[in-house]
Amino acid sequence: MIGKVKVVSQEDFDKWAEDLAFSGEGMTLEEFGAKLYVSKACVTCHKVDGSNSTGPPWNNIFGKEEMLSDGTTIIVDENYIRESILHPMTKITAGYQPVMSTFQGILKDKQIDALIAYIKSLQEDESLRNE
Ligand code: HEC
Repeated sequence: MIGKVKVVSQEDFDKWAEDLAFSGEGMTLEEFGAKLYVSKACVTCHKVDGSNSTGPPWNNIFGKEEMLSDGTTIIVDENYIRESILHPMTKITAGYQPVMSTFQGILKDKQIDALIAYIKSLQEDESLRNE
């Protein structure tokens, strides 16, 4: 029998193992987002049962109008969520302190998409889910 052995460095192997764990393979985008919510520690500041924490709760925010600290309002959509993750200091939700640090360079695009899908899935009013 002829076998083939591929030799990879420890570094490449670790990277491969990490990619696999964080690629969300075999999961729906929503499930992957739910996992990241915990593994990326969003859970320490955001609740999903409507109660307040350091940050605003995530359930039923999608599609809703929200007041910002400068007195303007925005609709929570995919772009706003993406911006909140990458540039949390740009738009501050009224009533909260600007303590969230950026996840730029920490979360990959697909991970952000997954978190958005998860937040969307927490919207009980389905008519608001479809942008
Ligand atoms: C240290 C606490 C903290 C952590 C950790 C944290 N956030 Fe936040 N987040 C906040 C606070 C406080 C606000 C509201 C103030 C603001 O807009 O910056 C906020 C706002 C948001 C908003 C806007 C919500 C709204 O209703 O306007 C989104 C979306 C969000 N965070 C996503 C995330 C994601 C995704 C993660 C994990 C990858 C995360 N946050 C981790 C504290 C945190």
